[in-house]
Amino acid sequence: ISEDTPPQNLSERSLAAVADFIKSGRARRIVVMTGAGISTAAGIPDFRSPETGLYANLAALNLPEPEAVFDLAFFQQNPRPFYALARELYPGARYRPTVSHAFLALLARKNLLHVLFTQNIDCLERAAGVPPDRIIEAHGSFATQRCIDCREPFADDAKMRESVERGEVPRCERVVGRDEDETDGIGGKEQDEERRCGGLVKPDIVFFGEALPKAFFERSGAVQEADLVLVMGTSLQVHPFAGLPNMAEEEVPRVLFNLERVGSFGTRADDVMVLGDCDAGVRKLADALGWRDELEKAWREL
Ligand code: APR
Repeated sequence: ISEDTPPQNLSERSLAAVADFIKSGRARRIVVMTGAGISTAAGIPDFRSPETGLYANLAALNLPEPEAVFDLAFFQQNPRPFYALARELYPGARYRPTVSHAFLALLARKNLLHVLFTQNIDCLERAAGVPPDRIIEAHGSFATQRCIDCREPFADDAKMRESVERGEVPRCERVVGRDEDETDGIGGKEQDEERRCGGLVKPDIVFFGEALPKAFFERSGAVQEADLVLVMGTSLQVHPFAGLPNMAEEEVPRVLFNLERVGSFGTRADDVMVLGDCDAGVRKLADALGWRDELEKAWREL
């Protein structure tokens, strides 16, 4: 980051330097990592914010500990808490992308977005217009679901949505055999009863202890190709995702848009921390880039 930027307060000065860097055309492969903090303005609570985070508000579901809601073993013995939460989080028209999501779509439209790694399961990046082939949903999403016993995909998405909206727990309907029904003795005809798997169906969201999608590992090398890294709205508490920002080459500037300092930010000379609301930080950067009107217009049209 050039040091000849006029001295203002650190984040202003360094945001201006980041904008200059982007305007210079030297930042062509921007890699972004996002977490729940970019969706809180859409009305979706994050996980760890003290008062408003999901983990502070799951007490009503009397879980052994909050993270149990995303724990596979707990889900197997009691899927109801997860499905109560799924009813709140299920993507649909209810939630609208934020200015931060709109900014990511703008980066993509300007051919500056190399890869977006998100931990979010709300699909708001897609809704904002980020091309799906640029998005790695590191913790999965509600887009697909499958039986946790036989792994059979539960193909009927409409039926899945209906179950979730009704707060019901969907069961695997794969036919696993036929039970010969005893005739009822008075000439009733033989009829086969279809026996079904009946296993619990779970959306393809990565639960604690589950492997991340292979696309995450296949594409994580993209971080080394980055010439600028943006990290937005994440506590960087959950690995392996939390390790992504450290994979950036030493000389690559890393910009954090977050309420609080997280991860290894501040340990590298070119780290820039824009601490505060991410939408406000993104708007400041858009102002410095001369993209503000374009950003607000794009966001209004979502
Ligand atoms: N602007 C900027 N930062 C914000 C905002 C906001 N409007 N709202 C919240 N934040 C910050 C919080 O201060 C926190 O540092 O975003 C971060 C959110 O952290 P978490 O709640 O831990 O969410 P996230 O990092 O996405 O969690 C990672 O944990 O439970 C698992 O799988 C789940 O994907 C999730 C993973």
